[in-house]
Amino acid sequence: MELLDVIQRRASVRSFTNESINPDDLKEMARRAGLAPSENNHQPWKFIAVTNKEVLEKLAAAISQKISEIPSLESKRAYLVKSQMEVSSTFFKGAPSLIALVMTPSETIWEKGFNLTPEELKKMHNYPDLQSAGAAMQNILLSAVELGYGACWMSSPLTAKTELEEILHIEDPWDLIAFVAIGKSNVEAKQSNKKPIDEIFEIIN
Ligand SMILES: Cc1cc2nc3c(=O)[nH]c(=O)nc-3n(C[C@H](O)[C@H](O)[C@H](O)COP(=O)(O)O)c2cc1C
Repeated sequence: MELLDVIQRRASVRSFTNESINPDDLKEMARRAGLAPSENNHQPWKFIAVTNKEVLEKLAAAISQKISEIPSLESKRAYLVKSQMEVSSTFFKGAPSLIALVMTPSETIWEKGFNLTPEELKKMHNYPDLQSAGAAMQNILLSAVELGYGACWMSSPLTAKTELEEILHIEDPWDLIAFVAIGKSNVEAKQSNKKPIDEIFEIIN
């Protein structure tokens, strides 16, 4: 598939068939994610694929529990927002697989030359590790399309970060960053409205 076609076909998919996913495809997606650029080529990531139904359900239950504990406003709107958050955080339980991107803090060469803490350096450079993770995540999404799957990037499950890390045995120095739900799409993936090019592009000559 042409790159342009893949980019244009990619759309978030949240509804999946029961068809299981070939573990080799998951591994290939992780391999391609690992080809992404990262600050100083640190490659601060690891990718954990979950295909076990029970584990997926356990993760979703931990998220639902955590969301139910968040102090919320008393209104019909608030109730709807809360329900929406739960759905958009847990729909992956209906997916055949979930990839977690985990990251370890990487020391930069800048730390050797400046009297600044790693946190100050990260902030100064606008969190390069997270930017690197974004590049890897996009590689997963595009690879999913190219391999015939649908996928959705997910950050809202992180509401229950501590609990999820416990279930997935993610231990220090690793940190859970984001998920991608992947499977065969149940619906025809439709690209959402995007801003027109003239609104998002300018050139400084
Ligand atoms: C950083 C990030 C986090 C996201 N987290 C979630 C999420 O937790 N749940 C969800 O349903 N969609 C999530 N999405 C998907 C967005 O809602 C989706 O990309 C956006 O609505 C645009 O639609 P499209 O992906 O089809 O172009 C996330 C996307 C990004 C980039």
